[in-house]
Amino acid sequence: MSQALDEIKIGGLGASRKRVEDNRFIRGKGNYTDDITLPGMLHMEILRSPLAHARIISIDASKAWEIPGVHLVLTGEMMATRNLAWMPTLSYDTQAVLATDKVRFQGQEVACVIADDPYIAKDACEAIVVEYEQLPVIVNPLQAVADGAPVIRDDKENQHDNVIYDWEVGDSAGTDRAFAQADTVSKLQLHYPRSHPSPIECCGSIADYDRASSKLTVYMTTQAPHIIRAAVALVAELPEQMIRIISPDIGGGFGNKVPIYPGYVCSILASILLERPVKWIEDKSGNLISTGFARDVYLEGEMALRKDGKILAVRMHTDADHGAFFADAQPSKFKIGLMHSAFAAYDIPVAHLTARGTYSNKAPGGVAYRCSFRVTEAMFFQERMVQAAADDLGMDQAEFRRMNFVQDDQFPYRTPFGFLTDSGQYTKCLDVGLKAVGYEDFLRQQQEAKANGRLLGIGISTMTEPLGAGNSREYDILGIKMFDSAELKIHMTGKAIVRTGARGQGQGHETTWAQIVSHELGIPAEDIVVEEGDTDTAPFGMGTYASRSTPVAGAAISMVSRKIRAKARKLAAHLLEVSEEDIEWELGRFYVRSAPDRGVTIQECAMAAYSNMPDGMEPGLENTAYYDPPNLTWPFAVYIVTVEVDPETGVWDVLNMVAVDDCGVRINPMIVEGQIMGGLTEAYAMANMQFITFDAEGNCVGANYMDYLLPTSWETPGFELHSEVVTPCPHHPIGAKGIGECAAVGGPAAFVNAVMNAISGTGVRNIDMPLLPDRVWEAIKYRHDVYGGPPVRTDDD
Ligand code: CDP
Repeated sequence: MSQALDEIKIGGLGASRKRVEDNRFIRGKGNYTDDITLPGMLHMEILRSPLAHARIISIDASKAWEIPGVHLVLTGEMMATRNLAWMPTLSYDTQAVLATDKVRFQGQEVACVIADDPYIAKDACEAIVVEYEQLPVIVNPLQAVADGAPVIRDDKENQHDNVIYDWEVGDSAGTDRAFAQADTVSKLQLHYPRSHPSPIECCGSIADYDRASSKLTVYMTTQAPHIIRAAVALVAELPEQMIRIISPDIGGGFGNKVPIYPGYVCSILASILLERPVKWIEDKSGNLISTGFARDVYLEGEMALRKDGKILAVRMHTDADHGAFFADAQPSKFKIGLMHSAFAAYDIPVAHLTARGTYSNKAPGGVAYRCSFRVTEAMFFQERMVQAAADDLGMDQAEFRRMNFVQDDQFPYRTPFGFLTDSGQYTKCLDVGLKAVGYEDFLRQQQEAKANGRLLGIGISTMTEPLGAGNSREYDILGIKMFDSAELKIHMTGKAIVRTGARGQGQGHETTWAQIVSHELGIPAEDIVVEEGDTDTAPFGMGTYASRSTPVAGAAISMVSRKIRAKARKLAAHLLEVSEEDIEWELGRFYVRSAPDRGVTIQECAMAAYSNMPDGMEPGLENTAYYDPPNLTWPFAVYIVTVEVDPETGVWDVLNMVAVDDCGVRINPMIVEGQIMGGLTEAYAMANMQFITFDAEGNCVGANYMDYLLPTSWETPGFELHSEVVTPCPHHPIGAKGIGECAAVGGPAAFVNAVMNAISGTGVRNIDMPLLPDRVWEAIKYRHDVYGGPPVRTDDD
């Protein structure tokens, strides 16, 4: 008689199983795009524009062609003869592949050289002579809509200004009525700066077109291989079955590897023209200056308040600077992503959001850097606004949140912007966090310190985040519905392979996906291989970003496992010679209800599927599931930070940070903790040290790792994590909610709120991130807000 299995021992749900992928990563055996070398491979380099806005008078590549080892020089003019000078973006705009008429941002792709090695290609790029005529430059939305502003996108027939969209959501009239009833109106204005995901591995591709078979294979750094395949099929008009996109190991993505970049397109065309593999690997400067920026949103809003602290309404406006091309990867329906998820954790009767998007002379922005489509900006504004409102009312900030939270018995709860949140224990999470940080005690210490001229501060950030787009009714990218898939094959010996349309970039999918199968079927996780990232083998999926893998692909894995279990049940009935209705399931085993000792394992069923199936049954034990989630998942988090600010220098140090995350059922608690720590580290970096901006001429300032600092373990404070609150997602098959980005989304406001709390009493309402010491010092010294949006800090300053 077999025993019921211990799920933790077999690496199922809840097991802190060590990451299987780390076996190769820590041995230096990862296989990244740049590790791949193909026979006869050539190398491509890109010539980028030094200017932010200029008309191209001429491009003379004759000297480049003369350099030995150069095989091809691509210019916009040549791309245009193949209708490839422009490509569609993921937001129904167009983007120049190689510039033909104008350059529109510093770092824009102007020409490419393909040569025997990357050094020859780089030298040849420098030999290309481009004559430019400079044009006035726009670096913020204010300039973009000013009278007489130059029209950046004069390539578009009906574009007579720099406005991309004017969008609104919510109830404008109802919000006005609520504001008329307010005792107090609290206001806030801030800029969420441009930031860069800056993965360790830059973007790159190797295109390999084989004329004999007409097959195009592209190895590339993409978080969404199937979307790339569809885009290549549509843009290059190649048959989709002849395109294979392989996304090998990815050295961090964070949203940077979702968009389609000109480098990918040029390497593909070059390979088709030369009939040789062509490798393009972006350098760090190229990555920082030209790919996948995030944020750059100007936010202002006001809150209508009753004097007892009840929030009556919220009004919000955002101006989003998208750069030269509107290339955001986000659901088509929502022009400013899920910005309208702001305030979803609070019970606010009515709200109204307006959003305007504008072009500027900067690289395309708007990628969802570790974020579910603008949710980071939304939650940052929300939590900064909540703190400002509590201060204006003279209320304790924790108490203010507690009295306005959506309460446990209000779920399912419809937010004023139309989302449906479905579960959570917000007050309990807050209480756990306050207790852990020693809230009352800290407030006392703060008062004592103040009496001695020391500035202590405490910042709270509480938020729920919509993770896991679709459902497919509402969510699509370029018309492709947002669902996901999983394919599971159980081999004859009971071992298995699971493939999904997701593509991890370090999140541990190879470990956790096996744990879901293990939970559903009782097959030990170590017997299950996980494979992602090859469009010839993986089922169609939308890829990994916006923490959608667990909510959507993870759910698909559960569902396909259940299909397998249903077939295995029939096999068990056949083996046990009873009817299916008489069969019971326990982890890894079917048994006869009336005689529990008589049973067969899932492995025995697998063997029977290939060697002893009942008459008429299709052999084999494999299946595919496509999962269209009924709703988003709504994790909740409380982040509390205490800091000390040095009034003489503006330097601030973190004293303590507590995180309470409720992401429903945790598949792998250790991996979840890793995700939270990584997110908090990025949040700290954004709040504290990552400075990248543009001067008045559109030069990208800070596009180097002296200014745009990547946090190391030296700077990063310690984090105390709490996991005692678990509210399972009611619609996810295993009750899991996404977690990958919560801490990066909710964290920044906790740090900024802490510093603002430390300097309360100065009358300063806002310092824009990053809170560099000089900014904090300026705020304390001159008692005024410190603005961080461009243009700031030109070389003349
Ligand atoms: O889409 P992405 O993988 O970036 O984010 P995610 O779905 O939130 O998952 C990040 C990692 O945490 C994955 O390895 C998940 O399987 C794991 N996770 C978990 O163990 N339990 C959860 N409730 C959520 C995620």
